[in-house]
Amino acid sequence: MGSALDQSRARHVAIIMDGNGRWAKKRGLPRAVGHQRGVEAVRRLVRSLEGTGLECLTLYAFSSENWKRSEDEVDDLMNLMRRFIKSDLPEFVANNVKLKIIGDWQSLAPDIVAMLEDALAQTANGRQTLAVALNYGGQHEIARAAAKAAASGEVTIETIAAQLDTHDLPPLDLLIRTSGEIRLSNFLLWQAAYAEMLFVDTLWPDFEPAHLTQALNDFARRERRYGGR
Ligand code: IPE
Ligand code: IPE
Ligand code: MG
Repeated sequence: MGSALDQSRARHVAIIMDGNGRWAKKRGLPRAVGHQRGVEAVRRLVRSLEGTGLECLTLYAFSSENWKRSEDEVDDLMNLMRRFIKSDLPEFVANNVKLKIIGDWQSLAPDIVAMLEDALAQTANGRQTLAVALNYGGQHEIARAAAKAAASGEVTIETIAAQLDTHDLPPLDLLIRTSGEIRLSNFLLWQAAYAEMLFVDTLWPDFEPAHLTQALNDFARRERRYGGR
């Protein structure tokens, strides 16, 4: 407990899965194909989760700003989500993956909400958490949490943190973004306060479990200071 070795091991990694569109464009394929291949990258990663030793992997799947995309693209993404839950839920259960959803997912289409509720119930006893950010925006999450903290009478860092969607997850250790963009795009703004950051050029559909292993090795070599010395 508390040894240098323990601190070099990540408990919670989050990924901004970006670059599906560019992956498809490079190949002259429709964006939808990029998103499909992106789902396959998610599947590979979830299958490798046990070997990572992580307590939680959080994936940014759909932001509160992604509604600005064409109706066709939003439909494609929602349909992929439906298919993914249906096809992969039994595997989650078999592999002790505990699903968690963050963001305003309750306002998604009623059939998706029902599927997610069922998936949450079926995976409730899982060991490793897969947190999926759906209709998620960090600013909105903080505003909601602050309002709840205010309603309970005391606004402090602790009372806000206790109301965040991530309140029951370990502290965020490492935030990865693929595709070469160097921005947070409204993801885990509060949680990123002292997270380590890793920006890689790999486009999301090309992301392999080995990339995550490499990222974890990189993380293990970092010196975290939290403002102290
Ligand atoms: C990430 O890939 C998937 C989602 C945001 C849902 P993009 O669709 O953003 O791919 P690029 O950034 O256009 O390449
Ligand atoms: C962030 O990627 C959202 C997800 C990966 C789900 P975007 O592609 O939407 O972000 P911007 O538009 O490049 O900032
Ligand atoms: Mg993008």
